[in-house]
Amino acid sequence: MKRIKIIDLIKSDPNPYINNQVKVEGWVRTKRDSKNVVFIALNDGSIIHHLQIVVDNNKFNESLLKDITTGSCISVTGILTSSQGQGQAVEIIAESITLYGTADVNTYQLQKKGHTLEFLRENAHLRIRTNTFGAIFRIRHAMAFAIHKFYNEKGFFWMHTPIITGSDCEGAGSMFNVTTLDMNNPPRQEDGSIDYSKDFFGKPTHLTVSGQLEGELGALALGLVYTFGPTFRAENSNTSRHLSEFWMIEPEMAFYDIHDNMDLAEEFLKYLINYALEHCMDDLEFLNKMYDKSLLERLNFVAVTKFERLTYSAAIDILEKSDQKFEFPVSWGVDLQSEHERYLVEKHFKKPVILTDYPKDIKAFYMKQNDDGKTVRAMDVLFPTIGEIIGGSQREENYDKLSNRIHEMGIDEKTLWWYLETRKFGTAPHSGFGLGFERLMLFVTAMSNIRDVIPFPRAPLSADF
Ligand code: 4AD
Ligand code: MG
Repeated sequence: MKRIKIIDLIKSDPNPYINNQVKVEGWVRTKRDSKNVVFIALNDGSIIHHLQIVVDNNKFNESLLKDITTGSCISVTGILTSSQGQGQAVEIIAESITLYGTADVNTYQLQKKGHTLEFLRENAHLRIRTNTFGAIFRIRHAMAFAIHKFYNEKGFFWMHTPIITGSDCEGAGSMFNVTTLDMNNPPRQEDGSIDYSKDFFGKPTHLTVSGQLEGELGALALGLVYTFGPTFRAENSNTSRHLSEFWMIEPEMAFYDIHDNMDLAEEFLKYLINYALEHCMDDLEFLNKMYDKSLLERLNFVAVTKFERLTYSAAIDILEKSDQKFEFPVSWGVDLQSEHERYLVEKHFKKPVILTDYPKDIKAFYMKQNDDGKTVRAMDVLFPTIGEIIGGSQREENYDKLSNRIHEMGIDEKTLWWYLETRKFGTAPHSGFGLGFERLMLFVTAMSNIRDVIPFPRAPLSADF
């Protein structure tokens, strides 16, 4: 007999399974004994809700029932019936049970309910079995799917950009090296420095911090492209908003200026939030109830509210005039901290904000230079509870300006010759941005630590599992 998923048994309408024999398989969440009956709450991951299995204990072997404990895995065949009890519409009256795997009551970490998120982080191999993480990772899947759906509907092409790279997109110098050299005894040049010509690729390589530069090559040929893949940053920022390995979505569009870029970013975020509201309501309701009672309200609000757009300079003005005490003082030229971003979003405008035209000295080399000589056509989208969720810009398409900026910033032009050639041959105005997938996930799930929205988080001094 074929297994039926619990979601299908609970949600099918009309329900073809009712009063029929069905087979379910999953993990036991709780077992409750009463006089002649044992009630098992079974979860198979397909949906947050458990299915109740009603077991007449006279019909089953006592030792089998004893071995069925929280965490054990079973297969149950029985009749799906309308439930008499409260809290569930259907239940299964068990006819036969196979025990696939026991879970020792003394050693199984999730034997009891109510573990802290910290404890669960240390048990990331099992936390996926909890209601919370089941909800989060189902939503994560839905968001990934919606991202591809959005761009596919708009005629964008998904481009697979490399993970191993010889260039540094963000120029922040925080990259993980990739090498097969023996670090205890690397080959040396005459001046004592490591001889990377002997390395696997014949030169220094790293894990990518962004797929953008290669994405731009795609946009200047296919018109509309996006990347969606893992990126790596070796910054030592142990915060609740940074990971060393995170996923990023980077659309790149030929013939888009900064305004088209902002329009796309806003439409994209609203599409994803609406998708979650339409397809993940059971999981969202759980998170709303357990973690943040204003989650659904916030999602509904952002889904329909026009984002505020203003320049960095105007934002600095507002921050300087506010009577808020900031840990990091504000003046024109500083990089905004998340406390500043959240003040603008949560206190001042009370809605998402897009800031543009940042000082060139705090932004990457590739951004289009404004005529004032001081600012670039950058845009950051700032969200309530998160701060920066998207960073992007119109790109500098002028060869001389781009090449000058690369020199000014002390970047080795040799690693970017191929990128510069796009500005030599058929250059075009173009723009793009990067959405941090886990930052989006924080917003949609109301989790407060970014390590809780990726299955196996990597952060400084932490790469277990
Ligand atoms: O602002 P960032 O650094 O921009 C870029 O990488 C550009 N190449 C994007 C582009 O224009 N194609 O990063 C983009 C976004 C941030 O807004 C943030 O949401 C996320 O990526 N992000 C991180 N998320 C988790 N952990 C980190 N360490 C992150 N660093 C950036
Ligand atoms: Mg940024």
